[in-house]
Amino acid sequence: MGEDFDWHRAARADEMEEGEPKLVAAGKFQIALCKVAGTCYAIDDICTHEYASLCDGVVEGDSIECPLHQAKFHIPTGKVMTPPATEDLKTYPVKVENGEVLVGLPKE
Ligand code: FES
Repeated sequence: MGEDFDWHRAARADEMEEGEPKLVAAGKFQIALCKVAGTCYAIDDICTHEYASLCDGVVEGDSIECPLHQAKFHIPTGKVMTPPATEDLKTYPVKVENGEVLVGLPKE
């Protein structure tokens, strides 16, 4: 089975800081790239509740809090942890190659 993703260069690995999500825009995708305990994860940047950029929110450990109504999401899985959001965030595969962080975006 072939790969179902287009790998998009999102950041240099050495510029990613714990607790500081990086906004990545790629085509129709707007993604928050977050480093947690040394591993980078990619989740949708737009909150599933209303319209807010999670990159403007606060990262605490492995969760990110929406800046608008403070819903919390688990960064590695995208799962909602606290309301008012009820829908999980989409997650995207991440790999590091030659010092570059790549995010796998679904092929259209
Ligand atoms: S927009 Fe994120 S919790 Fe309301």
